[in-house]
Amino acid sequence: MATVTVNGQDYTIDPTSDESLMDQLKTQGVEIVAACNGAGICQTCAVTVNSGELTEKTDTEDMMDLPDGQRLSCQCKAKSDLDIDLVY
Ligand code: FES
Repeated sequence: MATVTVNGQDYTIDPTSDESLMDQLKTQGVEIVAACNGAGICQTCAVTVNSGELTEKTDTEDMMDLPDGQRLSCQCKAKSDLDIDLVY
């Protein structure tokens, strides 16, 4: 299991799960805006990664010009404990 700190609050997720970081956090009640419902289009699920390791950027993320340190939570999974902040 991994601890993901979101806006200063801790949640426990399973880094071996097939679910995205967004889906695992939403299951625990984190209110992540997901206007495109995980299709990788809207960017409203973006998070700023303060520390920790995530899966490699997907082609979808590469095509978007995300600011440094930001990832789309619907497109990635945690590989370690994380400290992130929601962008929206
Ligand atoms: S939910 Fe739309 S890009 Fe992630």
